[in-house]
Amino acid sequence: MKTQILQVDDVSIQLAAKGIVDGKTVAYPTDTVYGLGANALNEEAVKKVYSAKGRQITKPLIVCVADKAMFKRVVQKITPTASKLIDLFLPGALTLVLPKSDIVPSVVTAGGANIAVRIPKSDIALKLIRYAGVPITAPSANTSSKPSPTLAKHVQDDLNGKIDYILDGGACDIGIESTVIDLTGKPRMLRSGGVDLEAIEKVVGKVEVERHETNYAKQYAPKASVYFSAFYDEMHHTICDRYDMLSMRGQTPVILCVSDRNKLYGKRNYYDMGDSYDDYAHNLFAALRRADDDGYNAVIAEGIPAGGIGDTLINRLIRSSGGQII
Ligand code: TXA
Ligand code: MG
Repeated sequence: MKTQILQVDDVSIQLAAKGIVDGKTVAYPTDTVYGLGANALNEEAVKKVYSAKGRQITKPLIVCVADKAMFKRVVQKITPTASKLIDLFLPGALTLVLPKSDIVPSVVTAGGANIAVRIPKSDIALKLIRYAGVPITAPSANTSSKPSPTLAKHVQDDLNGKIDYILDGGACDIGIESTVIDLTGKPRMLRSGGVDLEAIEKVVGKVEVERHETNYAKQYAPKASVYFSAFYDEMHHTICDRYDMLSMRGQTPVILCVSDRNKLYGKRNYYDMGDSYDDYAHNLFAALRRADDDGYNAVIAEGIPAGGIGDTLINRLIRSSGGQII
């Protein structure tokens, strides 16, 4: 299959939308990361998404819709709590899990009774969905277990020849995936992400948190080994020690650090992750992929204080390191 890369304008979005209607696969930019779209109501098209990603058929897909009316079509009902969250946070980086409606084929939910839905805050994604007129699948458009794609190039590196179109809309705003909240019982967070838990709790009260920290299943992983430092004032000493030890063993490490700490690493190689932890999050997946492209075989990531976007960064880095914490 030849993958066509389309520069974004109205004509190309319409072409991609027609592709969706015809059962094709389209990678498209969202506010969080690039998504891999297919008509969520077309079983055969949805199967192509699993096979392009190499994703296990037991892992359900998120679906993106354009507005609350379309949201209503894919769930049995919008509960009062869901309604509040939709009005406050969507379009945005929040995904809600609710019992699915009958029009959604079970391949989307991996055979389960519930569906994960969000409205992306991206004009390109919203136009694509509106022109297609159907809900569109929205798993991250990467090969399973790789870092999520925040540029069209990342999608191309993973999925070239496996999907029909890539809509190139430049870099994603947030660069990290949506927060996933299960509303089928008491509100429960399944994944931290672009919307802070604290902001959600202000609206719905206490949210239970699924603890993944004991399960170090590797995800978001580049080819390079990732080491993740705990956060404390003097962490640069530990990071430098690890860097020097790896170098002595003939490896080529690179450090991920925030701007005002660059100077602590002397002549060692580093990527500047920006001034803030939001920048660190925005740049994380791209940096992990760049390390491979630049020929580094170890990445040592600075620790981040807990809370807000920090929790999401810690979650992604623990997984990406497979639990190699220094
Ligand atoms: O920001 C995002 O959410 C991006 C953009 C493209 O929308 N998508 C994304 O999809 O991150 P993916 O497939 O990489 O991650 C989906 C997460 C997984 O943790 C999956 O287990 C969970 O959502 N999920 C999907 N459907 C679910 C369901 N029916 N019930 C519970 N969890 C679900
Ligand atoms: Mg993913």
